[in-house]
Amino acid sequence: MKYNLAVVGATGMVGRKFIEILEQRDFPVENIYFYSSQRSAGSTLIFKGKEYKVEELKEENILNKKIDFALFSAGGDVSLKYAPIFSNHGTIVIDNSSAWRMNPEVPLVVPEVNAEDIKLHSGIIANPNCSTIQAMVALKPLHEKYGIKRIIFSTYQAVSGAGMGGLTDLVEGYKGNPNKKFPYAIAGNVIPHIDVFMDNGYTKEEMKMIDETKKILHDDSLKITATTVRVPVAYGHSESINVELKKDFEISEIFELYRNTKGIALKDDIENLVYPMPIDAEGKDETFVGRIRRDFSCDFGLNLWVVADNIRKGAALNAIQIAECIIKDKEK
Ligand code: A2P
Repeated sequence: MKYNLAVVGATGMVGRKFIEILEQRDFPVENIYFYSSQRSAGSTLIFKGKEYKVEELKEENILNKKIDFALFSAGGDVSLKYAPIFSNHGTIVIDNSSAWRMNPEVPLVVPEVNAEDIKLHSGIIANPNCSTIQAMVALKPLHEKYGIKRIIFSTYQAVSGAGMGGLTDLVEGYKGNPNKKFPYAIAGNVIPHIDVFMDNGYTKEEMKMIDETKKILHDDSLKITATTVRVPVAYGHSESINVELKKDFEISEIFELYRNTKGIALKDDIENLVYPMPIDAEGKDETFVGRIRRDFSCDFGLNLWVVADNIRKGAALNAIQIAECIIKDKEK
């Protein structure tokens, strides 16, 4: 069976990755429609060798079509307004923005972690924050086997997470041109500030990691803190994850667990200087885990270094995997 798809924000960083991955995975597409703002409307995009005109996102351009899945990545405001319009018209929306993630009616899904939540949807499914997704892939097997008490996230996030504008700031910054997207130059710098500051002194990105982790792992008792940082890397988020488990473990068991976890590539061989780095994760589907070692400062503590391509597993791939789960279930 083939499906009609819409890509909303098709001309953006994640939008273009949706197109690439749909092609690579040979997603069963009958018709595909591309939407952008008025700015890029009328431009063309290529899908499977065929040219398509990008349409302006407006109601009249949606309601004249029968669309099975809409993949959204055009920012929170666009999702808030247009996701219900699509879903009321019978489309399943998979939304990459943060607009719907914490809505109790909306499942927040990483397929390797909580695919069972997908079926609870009523038209909208949320894709978690990029940093949350890779952390969940790494933490789920630990949560299942040992239980998790506390997590400390420290992230080193690529500029592509801020869209085309983020990448432009890095490239232009190295040419000596001023920053436009970030509050400071990112070339040769590190900015401990992603998304807006909240009343509690955390950034919204940090609170997303904290709140989304609890929702995805179905565990409000988790104690979590986070510091999220932008670094001058084009693609691939890196994370130091310090986790306190509820039960003791052997390091060899953790290696074994990661060797056998779907979606994980274990990269940990310090004698041969093997550890995950964004340069190796770019363009890959897996979440890379390494630098696995005991945290001697507390009981049952563990340190991990987790890297993934933020635009693939952190955004476009995860959303497409959600759609694939729905199709698999439907065609069973
Ligand atoms: P456009 O190319 O017309 O600006 P990125 O995150 O890489 O900057 O991409 C954002 C994506 O979201 C782009 O495709 C952009 O289209 C789209 N977009 C931004 N604002 C709107 C809007 N109001 N309506 C529809 N699409 C939008």
